[in-house]
Amino acid sequence: MSAVSPAGPSRLNVDRRGQLVEATIEVIYRDGLSRLTLAKVARQAGLSTSIVNFYFKTKEQLLLETLQTVSQEYEAAVDKAFESSSDPVETLKALVDAMLDPQLCTPARAAVWYAFMGESQARADYSGAVRVRELAIRQRIEGLFTDLFSEADASVSKRSHAIPLARALDALIDSIWEQSVMEPDMLDLDHARKICLDYLASVLPEGLDTSIGTPSGNPTSISKDISEGMLSAWTYTSTELYELEMAELFRREWMLAGHIADVSAPGDYLTLELGPERVLVMRDERHQLHAFHNVCRHRGSRVVPKSQGNCGHVMRCPFHGWTYRLDGRLKSVPRLPTFEGLDIHQQGLIPLELEVWQGLVFIRFEAGGEPVAKQLEVIEERVGNYRLADMISLGEASVSEVSYNWKFFHDVDNEGYHVPSAHPALQELYGRTYRDDLIGGISVSTGVVDDHPSTSWSVARYKSLLPDAEHLPAEARRLWLYFGIFPNAVIYFYPEKAGYYMTLPRSPNVTQVVSREYGLPDPSRQVRAAQYLSGRIDTLTSQEDNALVQWLQEAAGTSVFPLDNLADIEAGVLQFHRRLKQKIPVMGRCRPPVLGTLAKDNQELQAGALA
Ligand code: FES
Ligand SMILES: [Fe+2]
Repeated sequence: MSAVSPAGPSRLNVDRRGQLVEATIEVIYRDGLSRLTLAKVARQAGLSTSIVNFYFKTKEQLLLETLQTVSQEYEAAVDKAFESSSDPVETLKALVDAMLDPQLCTPARAAVWYAFMGESQARADYSGAVRVRELAIRQRIEGLFTDLFSEADASVSKRSHAIPLARALDALIDSIWEQSVMEPDMLDLDHARKICLDYLASVLPEGLDTSIGTPSGNPTSISKDISEGMLSAWTYTSTELYELEMAELFRREWMLAGHIADVSAPGDYLTLELGPERVLVMRDERHQLHAFHNVCRHRGSRVVPKSQGNCGHVMRCPFHGWTYRLDGRLKSVPRLPTFEGLDIHQQGLIPLELEVWQGLVFIRFEAGGEPVAKQLEVIEERVGNYRLADMISLGEASVSEVSYNWKFFHDVDNEGYHVPSAHPALQELYGRTYRDDLIGGISVSTGVVDDHPSTSWSVARYKSLLPDAEHLPAEARRLWLYFGIFPNAVIYFYPEKAGYYMTLPRSPNVTQVVSREYGLPDPSRQVRAAQYLSGRIDTLTSQEDNALVQWLQEAAGTSVFPLDNLADIEAGVLQFHRRLKQKIPVMGRCRPPVLGTLAKDNQELQAGALA
């Protein structure tokens, strides 16, 4: 029979050794490294010197183990922060939390750290634990800053700030550790943490987004299961989420509805279907534009039936004939006396907010918030060059109904990494210069049409025919330019025309893709030829993209989705997902909430983010 189990002595050893290490930390803090003796450590630990000698033959052994313990605690905290998220911003926040954890950033531990750091210049065995590790951590912070400044829309000169700004964070954290030794009574770690986060907010390219989840290192039950990366598969199929997207996104954000050229005369109208909603844009006799729910106030019929047309002087509901003026007021009701107490002055069409920006018509279901012009002001000057408001339609809108979730379309469209592989014609057109950027929350993609020979007939002819658009600045005369308007639209500008395309969700797995082109009036033959040829290139590109979107949809059905292996130049995809999660935090869930709880879960996450 054995006196102790095999695990007994080693556990006992670890506890006793740990006790001695803790005592050593206290002695170093109190007396300094040079005045430490094993006898002092024994007294501090409440043990005899012979017990200390039993575990540590020399003072040096005890000091090395103490250094390794503190160093490993430090390194483990850093590792945990780096493993907590694939998002560099979240990792930086987690790192600040870890470094200023009250269990780690104590006066005694900080004193030990600096005592050994002072000695490390002359001691190679200390140097390995202290200086090398310090440098490695600094390099990891520099790596995070470099990533952030590379993926953001930062100029080359701004990118060069990444390393100095990273070192300043490192120095800021060091200064807090120093204060914990020098002025422990003055140090407020919560305040120090806030200073670090304020610093990050002021220097990071996109600030410090604190709107998703709870502070890192301080998880609550509702922040479990939240992904910082790509959206999970359920977000593309959930009917509950689709309804929440309608409420939180499509009814709240500005939605592109068309161009003023499509509703230029009194009685001209456009309609739009967005999920269950029906929208009507109408020009009245005073040439004012209005947007309404395309829902009759009698029993809900569509007031105008087609996607575009002219209704003359009034809108007449096809169901029972209620008639509305072009400004939405109810004009007449057949057999009015048979309606008890119906006040026709109170029964006009229900209006929506409308704003025209650079000739484009935007509508919004829920009034309030920033105007379109404010949201898009960062691109206003650039768009202004194209005289979009003077353009006329080059044809009817192209509308196709596809069997995939609307977000898949943008997952493909939000990055140009696939251009060389999936779009040979586009690659030949401008692939050598294609790039994606983010300016003030708007994704901007550009490609300059080059002079290289092309195997594609359309591309070769386009390159040779492309007219010199004199109304444009020189740098735009061979430029294809796209602006992504969150959440569902892209407006684009080529030298010879402009246009938009957008997704209009109809259900979780059915989406309308709508596009339309515009050009300046009285185009030359050369411009018309270029418009025709770029149209052929666009048609081919959208067919190629459609196949990619279908394959992405298939991938989401497999058990390996989502796949997070994104290149730097696919940052637009992640950015799109981040913005969705900012608006609808529950979209960050790795697994779908229990049926019937999604909206409530989202509310709680929103409340947690605001707290
Ligand atoms: S539903 Fe429009 S008139 Fe009856
Ligand atoms: Fe594409």
